[in-house]
Amino acid sequence: MDRLYIFDTTLRDGEQVPGCQLNTVEKIEVAKALESLGVDIIEAGFPVSSPGDFNSVIELSKAVTWPVICALTRAVEKDIDVAADALKYARRKRIHTGIGTSVYHIQYKLNSSQDEIIERAVAAVKYAKKYVEDVEFYAEDAGRTENEYLARVVEAVIRAGATVVNIPDTTGYCLPADYAAKIKYLMENVSNIHRATVSTHCHNDLGMATANSLAGVMNGARQVEVTVNGIGERAGNTALEEVVMAVKSHREFNIETNINTKNIWETSKLVSALMNMPVQPNKAIVGRNAFAHSSGIHQDGVLKNRENYEIIDPKDVGIDESSIVLTARSGRAALKHRLAALGVINIAQEKLDEVYQQFLLMADRKKSLTDSDILALVGERENIHKKIKLDYLQVLCGKRVRQVATIRIDIAGEKFESTASGNGPIDASIKAVKEIIKRQMTIQEFLIQAITKGSDDVGKVHIQVEHNGKIYYGFSANTDIVTASVEAFIDAVNKFDQKFVPAKE
Ligand code: KIV
Ligand code: ZN
Repeated sequence: MDRLYIFDTTLRDGEQVPGCQLNTVEKIEVAKALESLGVDIIEAGFPVSSPGDFNSVIELSKAVTWPVICALTRAVEKDIDVAADALKYARRKRIHTGIGTSVYHIQYKLNSSQDEIIERAVAAVKYAKKYVEDVEFYAEDAGRTENEYLARVVEAVIRAGATVVNIPDTTGYCLPADYAAKIKYLMENVSNIHRATVSTHCHNDLGMATANSLAGVMNGARQVEVTVNGIGERAGNTALEEVVMAVKSHREFNIETNINTKNIWETSKLVSALMNMPVQPNKAIVGRNAFAHSSGIHQDGVLKNRENYEIIDPKDVGIDESSIVLTARSGRAALKHRLAALGVINIAQEKLDEVYQQFLLMADRKKSLTDSDILALVGERENIHKKIKLDYLQVLCGKRVRQVATIRIDIAGEKFESTASGNGPIDASIKAVKEIIKRQMTIQEFLIQAITKGSDDVGKVHIQVEHNGKIYYGFSANTDIVTASVEAFIDAVNKFDQKFVPAKE
C-alpha cells in the first residue's frame, strides 16, 4: 500500500479565522492531540506575521516529538530567516514558502510577470534550502493557474530543491474533474515530478474541498493539507477526518495514513471547544448526528446489522456509545475520566470540584448529560473568574405581554441593576445589560445552538460584539437560553478591556 501523508494546518490556516485564535498553551494542547492522532506534519504558524505566531512555532517545536513542524513564509528572505529561527528547536523541520501563480495574483496582487514569479519562487526555495533540507513550495491560487505555466513553476522549484510541491485551490474554485486533471497534468508533464511529493490544499468555497483532495490523491498526490473539522477561512479547508475516513473506507485507493482514527472524535471536540467553533450537527464523521439514526426503519435496520445503515463503525472514530450517559449518580472520578476522554486533561482538583457541583445541578435538571453538556460546563465554570458577571435575571415573556427583563450585574464585586423591555426576552435582557454597560457596541452575530435534542437541552450561545472597530467573541451554555444569551454577551464585554467602569447616572 502507498502512504498518504497528512499535513495538518489547523494551527495555521484554521487558526486564521477570526474568533478561532488560540494562545500558546492552547496551541500546545492541540498540537499534542494532533501528535497522538498521528498526523505527519503540523503547520505551526506563520512566524513573521506576529510575535505570537513566532513564539507558538518555538513552543510547539519543543512540545511535540515526531511530527515534522512546518512554518509558513512568503517568498521573501526576511520571512524565511524568521521561520528558520522559529524552527530552531524542532526535531524535524520544514519551511513552507511560496508565491501566487494565477493571472489574478501575478497581475493584480504582485504586479509582476510570469517569468519574474518563477525567478522569485526559485530564489525563495534556494534560500530556504540554506536552512533546512525539507522545503515545501506552494503555488498560491494554483486552482486558477493555467496548467502549462503551473508545470513550469513546479519543475523549476523542484530543480531548486523543493521536496514537496503544494497545489492549493486557494479560492475553492475547482471542480473535482478540474483538480484531478491538474494533478494528472503535473504528474505527466513535469519531468522531475518523481523527486518531490505532490500535495493538495483545497478550500471549501463550493463544498468541494474533500472531493477535490481525493481527486488529487487518485491522480498521484501523496500529501493532503487538512484541518480538524474542516475549519479555515471562509468556508474552510479540507476536513482531516473526511479524507482519512474516505481512504480508509474505500480500499480501492490502496493507500494508508498514519492516523489513529480512534482519536478523531476526541480531537474534533477539543478543537471545537478551544476554537469556539461549533461543529454542524450533520457534519460528516464528527457531527453529533453523524451516527444517529432517528427514523424507525433505520433504527430497526441498524439493530439487525449495523452495516445496513452505517458505512463506518462509530468506534473506529472513537465514539463509544455505551459511555455517553452520565447521570446525577456519577461520581467525580467518572466525570474526570470523561473530561480526560474529551481532551480536558490535568484538571486541578479545585476546578474539578467546582465543575462537579455544576454538573450535579445540571444532572438534576436533565435526565442524562452528554459530552457536549460536560464540555459546556467546563466553559461555563470559567465565568467565575470574570470581572463582569450576571448576578440575577428575571424575565417576563409570553404571548400578548410586554417582554420585560430585570437584570443585576456584578462588576468587580459591586452590583448594578436595570430593567428594560424589548421585542423578546433576549432583546429585553441585552438592552438591560446595555443600560448598565453604557458602551458603543453592536451585536454582529448571534448563534444559539441546541446541544442534544430534548426540551431539557442545554443551549450554547456564540456571539460577536463589535466595539471600537474590533470584534469580541462571547460564549455561554445553559439550559435557559435567555441566561446563556446574556452570559455570552457579558463574556464578550469582559474581553473589551479590564479597565471597565460602569456608567453611574
Ligand atoms: O490557501 C492557500 O493558498 C494557502 C497557502 C498559503 C498554502 O493557505
Ligand atoms: Zn489555504
